[in-house]
Amino acid sequence: MKVLALSFFVLFLFFSTPIKTTYPVVLMHGVTCDSSEMDPVVKWIHKYIGEDVYVYNMEIGDGYWDSIFNSMYNSVDEFAYKIQSDPILSKAEKINILAHSQGGLIARGYIEMFNDPPVSNFITWSSPHAGVFGTPKYDIEWVDKLLQEMPYIELGQRDVNPAQYWKDPYNYQDYLKKCVFLPYLNNELETKNPKYRDNIISLDHFVIQRSTDDSTVVPGESAWFDFYDENLKVVSYNKTTAYKEDWLGLRTLSESNRLIYQETDCPHGLYPHDECLDNFLKYTMQYLK
Ligand SMILES: *[C@@H]1O[C@H](CO)[C@@H](O)[C@H](O)[C@H]1NC(C)=O
Repeated sequence: MKVLALSFFVLFLFFSTPIKTTYPVVLMHGVTCDSSEMDPVVKWIHKYIGEDVYVYNMEIGDGYWDSIFNSMYNSVDEFAYKIQSDPILSKAEKINILAHSQGGLIARGYIEMFNDPPVSNFITWSSPHAGVFGTPKYDIEWVDKLLQEMPYIELGQRDVNPAQYWKDPYNYQDYLKKCVFLPYLNNELETKNPKYRDNIISLDHFVIQRSTDDSTVVPGESAWFDFYDENLKVVSYNKTTAYKEDWLGLRTLSESNRLIYQETDCPHGLYPHDECLDNFLKYTMQYLK
């Protein structure tokens, strides 16, 4: 009888221990590639976190070309539509997002504008959060020329994703007036969108990782929201009015230890490749559990 009681007790303990659930993960690749770029990360998650973790490797439009020639708003809308029409993601209590490069801006757009289902941990690998301003390398001559010489013309602001987060530090007013996406996403304009800020503050963690070996996102510090001043000197975001006045909620996140700065020497394009597996294991994985 005693043995029986004991076994019931043990069974009771076993079933009453809460089982920590791992949230589904959405992956978003960067510019000039498609979702196959993130395939190794799908494998890493299944191997190192759990076979049964639901991973959705996001694609926008046809992949490669639509990662360049699109509008960032369309990309965000499609990102949200696909999450909300997926049977598992749409019913999830929360989801985690891991995004590479430009993918981080699309995913952040989802968080600020939709966040339904809400995001728990948001991890970005070298995303141009504060914009880019540097030698573009799209290997499409007219695109490189457009970005360098007339990033804010209508064509770019309608059909070329990178133009919509191109920030010219010599022409900041032009950027504010004519760039259709990033000034809004970063709540840089006079009229702030409180929802964007609230949704960022609702994150459990926002992990921003930058690389010391980044020649794609220029300056690489943009991955930490840091950017050039008008003398091309990189200024820390936490020294700016935007941070002090908490336009985007990053100060609130930081003061509650939920804004996580990370640094790696992983070359920009190699994040989702086996060369950078160590980076995933050491810094990223803990936020996907
Ligand atoms: C301010 O930002 C820099 C990165 O630009 C970071 O290294 C530093 O830790 C931050 N300071 C505080 C107090 O958060």
